[in-house]
Amino acid sequence: MPVTFHVNGEPVRHDGLADRRLLAILREDLALTGAKPGCEIGRCGACMVWLDGEPVNACLVMAWQLDGRRVTTIESVAADPGSAPVRDTLAACGAVQCGYCNAGLVMAMTWLHAHPTLPDRAEAAASLCGNVCRCTGYGGVSRAIETLFP
Ligand code: FES
Repeated sequence: MPVTFHVNGEPVRHDGLADRRLLAILREDLALTGAKPGCEIGRCGACMVWLDGEPVNACLVMAWQLDGRRVTTIESVAADPGSAPVRDTLAACGAVQCGYCNAGLVMAMTWLHAHPTLPDRAEAAASLCGNVCRCTGYGGVSRAIETLFP
C-alpha cells in the first residue's frame, strides 16, 4: 500500500514494500545519505532523524509507519542556522573524529538544545547515551555537553 509523507518539507510518495525501513528509503530512494547505517538495530544512533519533530532511529521505522508523518534529516538541520551552536561546539570540543556518529549527535543534541526546558548536564548526558561514537571519542562529546548544557 502506498504511503505519503514529507521529508524536509518535500512531499514523498512511496510505493515500496511495507517492511522497508526509513533509513533505506532515505539513503537508497531519496539520496539523503546523512543518516548513517551503523548497528541497524536501534542501538547506535548513527541513523537518527526527527519524526514529527521527535528524535527516532530511522533503522527502526517501517515504511508503513510513515503515512502522513514529517521526517526531518541532518541535511535540513545542518542547513538551519539554529543548529550552529551544536555543530560549532562539537567541532571546538574535538568531538569530530571519523565523523560517522556526528550526524546523529547533531540531531540529538540540537533537539535537546532547542527543548523548551533546557536539560541539565546529567540529563543531557543520559539522553545521549544512545548515540555511540565508534572512535570512543567521548572526551570531546562530554566537553560539548558541558558547554551546551551548563
Ligand atoms: Fe540505527 Fe544504529 S543504525 S540505531
